[in-house]
Amino acid sequence: MPLIISTWSFSSRGNDTAWPMLASGGSALDAVEACCATVDAAPDVDSVGYGGLPDASGRVSLDGCIMLSPARCGSACALRHHLHPVSVARRVMERTSHVMLAGIDADEFADLQGLPRSELLSPEAKAAWETWSTKPTVIDQSRDRLVAGLRPIDGGPGADGRLFAANAPRASGSEDRWKHHDTIGTLAIDSHGTLAGACSTSGMPYKVPGRVGDSPIIGHGLYVDPTAGAATATGAGELVMGVCGSFLAVELMRQGRSPIEALVATLERIRSSYELQPHHQVAMIALRPDGAWAAAALRPGFRVAVRDDAGSRVLEPDATLLPESS
Ligand code: GLY
Repeated sequence: MPLIISTWSFSSRGNDTAWPMLASGGSALDAVEACCATVDAAPDVDSVGYGGLPDASGRVSLDGCIMLSPARCGSACALRHHLHPVSVARRVMERTSHVMLAGIDADEFADLQGLPRSELLSPEAKAAWETWSTKPTVIDQSRDRLVAGLRPIDGGPGADGRLFAANAPRASGSEDRWKHHDTIGTLAIDSHGTLAGACSTSGMPYKVPGRVGDSPIIGHGLYVDPTAGAATATGAGELVMGVCGSFLAVELMRQGRSPIEALVATLERIRSSYELQPHHQVAMIALRPDGAWAAAALRPGFRVAVRDDAGSRVLEPDATLLPESS
């Protein structure tokens, strides 16, 4: 029964950290927190935690949330000094009567909870921002400007967490197209049948300072209801936020849709609600209380990392709605 699924191949290492906990009877809540913490600490993941690309002012801000049920959820956003937003969010859930803390006060709350401050801006992210700031533009994430000339490493993405190697063309439909993109969203079910989920992100690269996306907002980047299922989203948060994407997917499962039917219907809602541009990507994963799960994306290139009794693997989604160029 235990299972952990997470967005993007870079999350394999997080799943692998969490798996021994799940395999030995540990809780899904601990597993999703540990999974995100591993990815937060990885300097080579440039869309989460240390290594995350900064906002337009050159400062990193981190967002995250964690959820067991509508009555047990927590969130922290716009953190500038603490590396693990999910751990801050868990303390909001467990030690306050609130759901969400933001900004400098969330950092001060984390201080009071004994969580250490740390530098969030990696040298590589700083250098990337310095290059970007000489000619600031809104990054078109479908073009992979900052990684032109990179290709997936030999053996495929995810093998050691490095997705890219230098000086080779990227393959059409490959995950590298969505470099800088995006959130780790992770869903787990433990041996007791408890569902939990968490999200962690540095948000959109070079965002307007103060911008917060879907990831830390309950119902948008993540939703978990033990009576219906769990879902999490990755990609352009602004597209998820307009349709309450994760809540919608879980509600559709509650109404009897399978995980893949629920995800496709949610992505269809996004497609019909916006004038999508080629750089728009949203992908989602969903998990039902009986362990059935699915992954789907608007466009090619998404991967889901899975860990269960059968081992660790990185898979293509079950459904992709749009061709790359539409
Ligand atoms: N999905 C992450 C964000 O838009 O910030």
